[in-house]
Amino acid sequence: MRAHRETLLLFSLLILSPLLALSTTPPFSCDPSDPSSKNYAFCNTKLPVAQRAQDLVSRLTVDEKIQQLGDIAPAIPRLGVPAYQWWSEALHGVAYGGRGSADYTGTIKSVTSFPQVILTGATFNPQLWYKIGEAIGTEARAIYNSGQLQGLTFWAPNINIYRDPRWGRGQETPGEDPLTTSTYAALFVRGVQGDSYKGNGVALLKASACCKHFTAYDLERWGNVTRFTFNAVVTAQDLEDTYQPPFKSCVEEGHASGMMCSYNEVNGVPPCGDYNLLTKIARKEWKFYGYITSDCDAVEVMKSSSGYAKTPEDAVAYALKAGMDVNCGFYVQNYSASALQQGKLKEADMDRALRNLFTVRMRLGLFNGNPTRYKKYGSIGPNQVCSQEHQNLAMETALQGIVLLKNTDNLLPLAKPQCSSLAVIGPNADNAELLVGNYHGPPCFNITPLAALQGYIKDTRYVAGCSDAACNTSITIDQAVQVASTVDNVILFMGLDQNQEREDLDRYSLLLPGAQQDLITSVAKAAKKPVILVLLCGGPVDVSFAKSDPKIGAILWAGYPGQAGGPAIAQILFGEHNPGGKLPLTWYPQDFTRIPMTDMNMRANPATGYPGRTYRFYKGETVFQFGYGLSYSNYSHKFISKTENPNMKTTVNLQVTKIARNSNYYHVDEIGVDACDKLKFPTTVRVQNHGPMEGRQPVLLFLRWPTETNGRPAKQLVGFNSVHLKAGEAAHIEFAVSPCEHFSRVTEEGKRVIDKGSHLLMVEEEELEISVMD
Ligand SMILES: *[C@@H]1O[C@H](CO)[C@@H](O)[C@H](O)[C@H]1NC(C)=O
Ligand SMILES: *[C@@H]1O[C@H](CO)[C@@H](O)[C@H](O)[C@H]1NC(C)=O
Ligand SMILES: *[C@@H]1O[C@H](CO)[C@@H](O)[C@H](O)[C@H]1NC(C)=O
Ligand SMILES: *[C@@H]1O[C@H](CO)[C@@H](O)[C@H](O)[C@H]1NC(C)=O
Repeated sequence: MRAHRETLLLFSLLILSPLLALSTTPPFSCDPSDPSSKNYAFCNTKLPVAQRAQDLVSRLTVDEKIQQLGDIAPAIPRLGVPAYQWWSEALHGVAYGGRGSADYTGTIKSVTSFPQVILTGATFNPQLWYKIGEAIGTEARAIYNSGQLQGLTFWAPNINIYRDPRWGRGQETPGEDPLTTSTYAALFVRGVQGDSYKGNGVALLKASACCKHFTAYDLERWGNVTRFTFNAVVTAQDLEDTYQPPFKSCVEEGHASGMMCSYNEVNGVPPCGDYNLLTKIARKEWKFYGYITSDCDAVEVMKSSSGYAKTPEDAVAYALKAGMDVNCGFYVQNYSASALQQGKLKEADMDRALRNLFTVRMRLGLFNGNPTRYKKYGSIGPNQVCSQEHQNLAMETALQGIVLLKNTDNLLPLAKPQCSSLAVIGPNADNAELLVGNYHGPPCFNITPLAALQGYIKDTRYVAGCSDAACNTSITIDQAVQVASTVDNVILFMGLDQNQEREDLDRYSLLLPGAQQDLITSVAKAAKKPVILVLLCGGPVDVSFAKSDPKIGAILWAGYPGQAGGPAIAQILFGEHNPGGKLPLTWYPQDFTRIPMTDMNMRANPATGYPGRTYRFYKGETVFQFGYGLSYSNYSHKFISKTENPNMKTTVNLQVTKIARNSNYYHVDEIGVDACDKLKFPTTVRVQNHGPMEGRQPVLLFLRWPTETNGRPAKQLVGFNSVHLKAGEAAHIEFAVSPCEHFSRVTEEGKRVIDKGSHLLMVEEEELEISVMD
């Protein structure tokens, strides 16, 4: 009987669907005009969400429950619940990708494309990170309200540590540093979810963000190792101070409502089947309140690729018992019934997951009647997508992120009067698609660097030099050389693209691909003046040759700068903006590629010659260091003395008598949260812009350890902020120093401790010594 009614309903929906596609109403449950909704406790907005979710789950048949456990969750027509798509993307703007991708053929046809995240990381500007999240949340709601999205759960941010320069998805992250990534995670999530900058959590989510990929995921495909088969062998020390902090922050500080468990195994266990990781750590220890999705087909991968699970039913049972809630793919929907039959899975395991899933949909306001009628997010409309405010933010982020790597004899900025002719050379100069990186939507506009420069210098001559970043076809070095020799200035646009680095593709070499180096040096040799090299790439490239070539006067790194990238680069080249971005990752030499990408160890091992990874542990030469970046101005940094800031400390007295002591260090756990709070103190850095241009400057505060024994990092970023200063202007930047957080290190057993003795705070070359004692 019921089956029959459902068939009828489906039939009428099918007839209606062309109309629905045209209408601007998003899908929602608990329509007040449907009389039955009054009888459902799950529709009663006065009840606590947990109770409403429980009520809904209790009304479902076993078959209905099973069907809700995949990213394509079908409608439950008899309860007035529409279909839901869990998988939408919004890495640096609402994006394509995902089965729940927005339909950009409706009223809204384009979205703001912010720079790819690695360049946004280079701004070291937390306010911008929050605002980008906020803009994305707003655009997402607008698209939903316009009926062009079937879900509001976005699978961003990507907060895995950029561990290896070859990683194809490193471009999606804010870099290699745990503090930067943790801060980015929290602020991006707060912005997307409609939370405040300080972050208290919100009752009604504007959109849902998802911390991915949990955890130690940062390898795509390298040799015969893929992310599906890779077992990341991670030490307790590295897990605690490198791989986990962004996720902890994303949950505890960001109050994220989503997490994604990753494909790779961690020490032999797939995260999607790891009760310790998903339930004990995320839910119990970090108080995660939200849903956990698998990466796409990660449950199937447990059986098919890694062989961790013997049967499909085992894989499904492992995942649901571990604490995963929804599977991206159809595997759980296909094999839950047999897993129940075989007694591997209990209905209660599914109910637990379903409560989390419906709780998130309810927190998004999708069970409160028509969401376009709510006061809070209902009125967000198409005019808030690609708004001037969001487009300015995309421009501002590109401007603040771009890093000046070399500028011999102040070659830059170019002065228009002295530049009457320009050669623009390189395969990356006129490629609009390249600018938006991956996981992007259709941008509001797209102006390539070539088009932007043509707006500055009328006589701009363009030679691609080769067909694309691979630079192994249509090579026209002779033509490029000829044009370069005839103009006042030459700007080369080189680097990488998504065919060199992307999801499912890691690099083998850090050198510029194909004939790029030959093209650059040949052009530089022929040019009248030293040339300018602009690198468009997410991952680092070994451009040692360009660093040392006197015919290459300036180098700029612009990441994948998003929709505003072309004009932003032009503004910097012509001095309308003073660059201040700092590299959020180490640029290693090609020699680094001798170490296997599969080695997850952060710490160097002198016995094997393993050099370690990232600025915190790497012992080898660099092409450019983490935090490096020039400006058209000179800045000075100085710690303010105790007489100028009486609240600062040069001695920290732990005043903890009852704790179990080790002679050299204290366990942070034993000091306790309250005592740790009392130890906090301010320290102030005076930054001055000595001119000649106004500019914005990130200020990075590091802690340096006097010795690097027992896995102590060489140094560690402990604070950062961004300050705008006029030429000649100075400002005081205050950092709240928390000894428990900032002076602590992680032992080989994975425990956080504070060493007794000297701790050195550093800004640029300045150091401030602080003693820790009983
Ligand atoms: C991958 O290749 C390495 C080196 O050639 C080899 O030692 C290893 O056994 C291979 N692994 C697999 C899974 O085939
Ligand atoms: C699930 O079942 C459907 C229908 O039998 C089949 O087409 C699909 O390939 C299955 N997918 C998975 C991941 O098992
Ligand atoms: C060019 O290089 C790419 C790799 O970047 C490679 O896939 C392609 O086969 C090469 N093409 C030629 C013509 O050598
Ligand atoms: C910054 O200072 C250095 C050293 O004093 C000087 O050589 C350089 O020209 C200055 N740069 C600017 C932009 O003023």
